[in-house]
Amino acid sequence: MGADWIRRAEELVLPGRMVIDGDACAAVDGRTFPCTSPRDGATLVEVPRGAVQDVDRAVAAARRAFADGRWSQRPPAERKAVLLAVADRVEAHTEELALLISLEMGKPIALSRDVELPAFLRTLRWYAEAADKLLDELPQVGPDAVAMVTREPVGVVGAIVPWNFPLTMAGWKLGPALAVGNTVVLKPAEQSPLSALRVAQLALEAGLPPGVLNVVSGLGPEAGAALSRHLDVDALAFTGSGTTGAQLLRDAADSNLKKVSLELGGKTPNVVFADAPDLAAAARTAAWGVTFNQGQMCTAASRLLVQRDLHDRFVEEVVAAARAQRVGDPLDEGTEIGPLVDESQLDRVLGHVERAQWAGARLVLGGGRTLEVTGGSFVEPTVFTDVASDMPLAQEEVFGPVLAVLPFDDADDAIRLANDTVYGLAASVWTGDLRTAHRLARAIRAGTVWVNCFEEGDMTVPFGGMKRSGNGRDKSLHAIEKFTELKTTWIAL
Ligand code: NAI
Ligand code: MG
Repeated sequence: MGADWIRRAEELVLPGRMVIDGDACAAVDGRTFPCTSPRDGATLVEVPRGAVQDVDRAVAAARRAFADGRWSQRPPAERKAVLLAVADRVEAHTEELALLISLEMGKPIALSRDVELPAFLRTLRWYAEAADKLLDELPQVGPDAVAMVTREPVGVVGAIVPWNFPLTMAGWKLGPALAVGNTVVLKPAEQSPLSALRVAQLALEAGLPPGVLNVVSGLGPEAGAALSRHLDVDALAFTGSGTTGAQLLRDAADSNLKKVSLELGGKTPNVVFADAPDLAAAARTAAWGVTFNQGQMCTAASRLLVQRDLHDRFVEEVVAAARAQRVGDPLDEGTEIGPLVDESQLDRVLGHVERAQWAGARLVLGGGRTLEVTGGSFVEPTVFTDVASDMPLAQEEVFGPVLAVLPFDDADDAIRLANDTVYGLAASVWTGDLRTAHRLARAIRAGTVWVNCFEEGDMTVPFGGMKRSGNGRDKSLHAIEKFTELKTTWIAL
């Protein structure tokens, strides 16, 4: 990845336009905000700072596109064909999109290209393929009537997504929403608008009708809030922080009671029993699970619960594996850990480290900023032992490569600790005992429980959280529930 590519990226995104109603446009008031790169802190490009008027235009365009049936009334097989064409066009631009993602939010280039882009394409294609395979219901209501239960698109969908997986998270909303005939206004995170804007351009070129996918770049409290408070948005699909999720529920209540689905944070317990069949794999995964994507994952395996007898030697292996991870320039093919998304995320993560030390946890690896001369927001992989479950480090989402290790005695103890947070997104259990595995899988309140693995999945399985990790599910056919209404038609015979 050399200077050529960076220049190429600058050409791609300049002059930085939003996509509304099929037009590349600036904000109505002409304002912009800088999109900076966490690899060196440099400004990449000025991006339109969309606000109320821009969101109004985008929602009006989405409403027109929905109401005139240019998308919602197309035969499902045609929607499928268009979405597959969009995926093909995006795939042909994999290299440049991967570069935009790595530049805007710091993900190592190999992960942008080989994980993030393929995940986005898989999602889009899976829902495209589903479009013409969904069936409605005819309940048996007796001889005097015919009853039909049909699914209809909800209408105009607002999607507000974060920066940690800019395209995967967008895809989890766009795929099901578009496949069933909705129109969408997407608000990407202010840290990572470039890849989403580029995808909107490519989608138009591939034949998605104008107004069906609108992308408004801007700040959360401005463009985001305009969308969540809008009177003509029917459903809001969100991934991000609990604080913002709560605000969206208030905004929905204060506006038009739009349907709100929330995928929020987590504090994934990674529970390792001494009888785990492959402890070396468990240790490697424990390190990887909290450093992947710089730890900026809602599922990050940030709480390692280790059976007491195993604790010391297991922690040693985890620390060695975490230490071996290569921190560096996200544009370097060999980099495993890039920078955090920006300086404020770096401050937030270092604040968690400082508070953990005050609370009495023992720092056994990392804990500091690194590669400061680059101007990038890099942090060392960090491990704390002697963490008590009531310490902030065991309770709060860090969203950085910071691991809290807690010992446990037996399965009862493990279950108690695993459930001892406000979150319920995911959990992982490592054991060779089938009964222990089942017991924990049932007892842990989380949307996903992995056994002898971590972060595995497939488009067929739902993803989302219990408790304060949110509501609703992304992925799988269940995701369609968020973007459709059920209609009963009763015909007297
Ligand atoms: P955030 O929740 O504020 O941002 C996510 C999205 O919401 C962005 O597109 C943002 O522009 C938008 N937004 C922010 N305020 C809004 C508002 N008032 N109305 C409408 N939209 C709004 O999260 P942020 O500030 O980027 O990160 C803070 C923390 O949140 C992180 O440290 C992490 O703990 C958590 N987080 C969790 C994510 C997850 O995957 N569950 C993703 C990103 C952040
Ligand atoms: Mg925020």
